[in-house]
Amino acid sequence: MLVRKPLIAGNWKMFKVVGEAVATIEALKPLVADVGGVDIVVCPPFTALYAAGQALRGSAVELGAQNVYKEAKGAFTGEIAPQMLLDVGCAWAIIGHSERRKIFGETDALLSEKLRFAVDTGLKVMFCIGETLEERQGGQMNDVLSRQVGEGLAKLSASDFERVALAYEPVWAIGTGVTATPEQAEEAHAYVRDLVRRQFDATIAEGLRIQYGGSVKPDNAAQLIAKPNVDGFLVGGASLDARDFAAIVKAGAGG
Ligand code: 13P
Repeated sequence: MLVRKPLIAGNWKMFKVVGEAVATIEALKPLVADVGGVDIVVCPPFTALYAAGQALRGSAVELGAQNVYKEAKGAFTGEIAPQMLLDVGCAWAIIGHSERRKIFGETDALLSEKLRFAVDTGLKVMFCIGETLEERQGGQMNDVLSRQVGEGLAKLSASDFERVALAYEPVWAIGTGVTATPEQAEEAHAYVRDLVRRQFDATIAEGLRIQYGGSVKPDNAAQLIAKPNVDGFLVGGASLDARDFAAIVKAGAGG
């Protein structure tokens, strides 16, 4: 059976100035230095990326950005190109976070273009999907996930999946302290994997890492990662603390 290497990423959102980011990374590095069999990523805000990248040199922890634009250069005030992220040491970008979708109005069509361009440029991408509480309670969860996966991945072809992971982040679990139960996460992840199987093929679906995100903490990570379709985490609040994030990384690596 194919083994998917767990992917544990910290999304720092709009937290930490440069000094704080570097201090967090310096604290994190020794805590995870001996943890094997797992990919680890930290995603500081743009302003701290260069310094974070320098602090991560020689470490297995990779650097990621929280957003990226779909053009290489030009008159796009306030936007950042994938080439610029690679230039400061990023290997990864998060695309389609629910906060980008909701607060900044990013559509499935835009996100699919961002994903296509980022992958073309050489970034690896964590592509986020997930339903709101209203959508779940209204019985629309599967439809929402189906639309987000169908449209979001529409521009990809088979070979792109080496560079793509999905992050299932139910909006009702983000920053709320309400974590999806392992059973809820497993159900959604299995559904999403089946969507990918139908849109592409079984090999791609089986190889695709699907992270869970939404109030992941050191004390719930082990139960979540134990589920067969949960292949890692995208951690918000708990990733701001080096000890908590390291504990989640260790849980993700199997204890
Ligand atoms: P929390 O872990 O703070 O719930 O955030 C999850 C998230 O949005 C990660 O991208």
